[in-house]
Amino acid sequence: MGTGMPNAVIVGTQWGDEGKAKVIDYLTERSDLVIRFQGGANAGHTVIADGRKFIFHLVPSGIMYPDKVCIVGNGVVFDAEQFLREVDELAEYGIGVNGRLFVSGLAHLVLPYHKIIDGARETSMGKGKIGTTGRGIGPAYADKINRTGLRVGDLCNWDNFVTGMKEGFELHRTIVTTVFKADFPLSFDGLVEQYRSIRERMLPFISDTAALLFTAQRENKQLLFEGAQGTFLDIDHGTYPFVTSSNTISGCACTGSGVGPAAINHVIGIVKTYTTRVGNGPFPTELDNADGELLRKEGGEFGATTGRPRRCGWFDSVMVRKAVQLNGLTRFALTKLDVLSHFDEIKICTHYEIDGKRYDQFPVDTTLVEKAIPVYETMPGWKCSLDGCSTWADLPEKARAYIDRLRQLCYDVPALIVSVGPDRRQTIEVTPLS
Ligand code: GDP
Ligand code: IMO
Ligand code: MG
Repeated sequence: MGTGMPNAVIVGTQWGDEGKAKVIDYLTERSDLVIRFQGGANAGHTVIADGRKFIFHLVPSGIMYPDKVCIVGNGVVFDAEQFLREVDELAEYGIGVNGRLFVSGLAHLVLPYHKIIDGARETSMGKGKIGTTGRGIGPAYADKINRTGLRVGDLCNWDNFVTGMKEGFELHRTIVTTVFKADFPLSFDGLVEQYRSIRERMLPFISDTAALLFTAQRENKQLLFEGAQGTFLDIDHGTYPFVTSSNTISGCACTGSGVGPAAINHVIGIVKTYTTRVGNGPFPTELDNADGELLRKEGGEFGATTGRPRRCGWFDSVMVRKAVQLNGLTRFALTKLDVLSHFDEIKICTHYEIDGKRYDQFPVDTTLVEKAIPVYETMPGWKCSLDGCSTWADLPEKARAYIDRLRQLCYDVPALIVSVGPDRRQTIEVTPLS
């Protein structure tokens, strides 16, 4: 039976790493199914529960709860090797997944040659590179859209799979060695052997997940959709070309899982109370100074997937206003407020100036974003630990004033949650879902 929470989509409102997984883990307790619907193993989702830390790349972050069902939807590009590695790591932690973890047969496979071409293309772009995670995401989505990809369900028909993989292997080998003039360190025979054993292990997970979700809705079960990346990495709405290769906004929860829009009751935007970005591309409020260093140090801002230092800056309300619009946000979950406890003063970007003109709206033209000068207002810091704060009233007055101002600048979206630490317990509930 249902657990009482309406169906909700969780999305990042900035450039990823907002703390989505922490919030998903927290909300999983009152959901029945957790569903990934886009992206792939480029995601790095960190859950800390009962003192245990786990970084998920493909398995939904709800899996830590033993009775919840987790689904990898059709919109994901699926790296089977990484997925099985996560399943093994979970087993080492004593977390079983059998019978409650399902992968859509329609999800496209990321194969080793996608990762090779991802790296070769980046190298060939030199300084203009995107700074991808190297997980083969763009090339796998390119094959999908080009109708030349292999899907998880193709593993069921081994002979066809091998034929398809041979075509993909030869095509990518030719491009890597002749266009990018790079190494292609992969043998086809080795690949076949590797996928023969992957296939054996994958077969029990392959399902018609859209049908499963339909049945779950008929049974009044609660669905929690786990977005990856963030609004400004969206292939359409983000800072193109410095984006990922999928739609990351809430609308993708439907196409990436096979449920209708009416199934979704709430859209929760995860908002880091400052801003970070990994990889290249414009970042108006980026701080190349001691404040940026302090955010990185206190926030532990190093990539969960690649270990790269994250670029850090003040909160940018221009971006988050746009995220409210694009995702139809009904709630915020505001994260990492504790990190700001170290600052005497905290700045909020209210608008930009570009070529001497005021911009309250995030420009759709990336070259304008590159020229944006952030205009700030300054708020006093609270300079004390938030440890032990478990209700809104427990928070220092100046911290509450910061959150109130931030929300006010972003259409007054109510806060479902304020997060004051990485652990499940370090969570303050403010305005419940209704
Ligand atoms: P995701 O990709 O959006 O799921 O976020 P990541 O896991 O990549 O990065 C968020 C990081 O911040 C992780 O290391 C989390 O454990 C941590 N985190 C999440 N919420 C909080 C918080 O409120 N305070 C602090 N200090 N850390 C947090
Ligand atoms: P989560 O889900 C932050 C960034 C990369 C690069 C761009 C394209 O943990 O928030 P890709 O490998 O997708 O082709 O890289 O997107 N990127 C992320 N940044 N968090 C992520 O995921 C990201 N996934 C991709 O750094 O700039
Ligand atoms: Mg992350």
